[in-house]
Amino acid sequence: MAILTGINKVKTAVFISGNGSNLKSLIKFSRSNKSPISIKLIISSHSKAKGLSYGKIFKIKKRVINFKNTKIFDDKLISILRKNQIEMICLAGFMKILSKNFIQKFNGKIINIHPSLLPKYKGLNTHKRALKNKEKYSGCTVHFVNSKLDSGKIILQKRVKISKNETEKSLTEKILIQEHKLYPKAISKIFNL
Ligand code: GRF
Repeated sequence: MAILTGINKVKTAVFISGNGSNLKSLIKFSRSNKSPISIKLIISSHSKAKGLSYGKIFKIKKRVINFKNTKIFDDKLISILRKNQIEMICLAGFMKILSKNFIQKFNGKIINIHPSLLPKYKGLNTHKRALKNKEKYSGCTVHFVNSKLDSGKIILQKRVKISKNETEKSLTEKILIQEHKLYPKAISKIFNL
């Protein structure tokens, strides 16, 4: 396996809105010599996102962006990303919808993790809906982002069995554990590692 150092790693930004547990797992992964990426920037849609604390802990630059005005947001965000020479974007619990313009500018360079076995359960409340439909399995998916919600090309998926007495909370926790493993694996896969 190739040994990657800070110099030849792909400069990556992670976009978050909440807890940032996937961000944390990506940061840990990015610091190993197996990782093709180096996380240079954290973008949050909320100033109070818990995940922002990882910026401080791991000494990564962080920026909070007000996503209300699409045009201002696009221009500002693109300029921040360019200034930091960002080559790849990982969405990790990012709750805003990116504009078509933005996605086009970073075409093929944005990936996302979604807590369901896509194409099933796009959008919000995935676990609740899977339980309501009495699914036997759910899981998580890492996919490329295109302009349709949760519809880009799938990179990797992990199936998780739903147990008899499963609750939304227990399923969320079970799937999150798998998400933390799947996201790094999917990134390695993109780079053929
Ligand atoms: C994860 O379940 C992710 O799949 C979804 O939002 C959640 C974010 O969790 N898009 P965290 O902020 O990474 O802990």
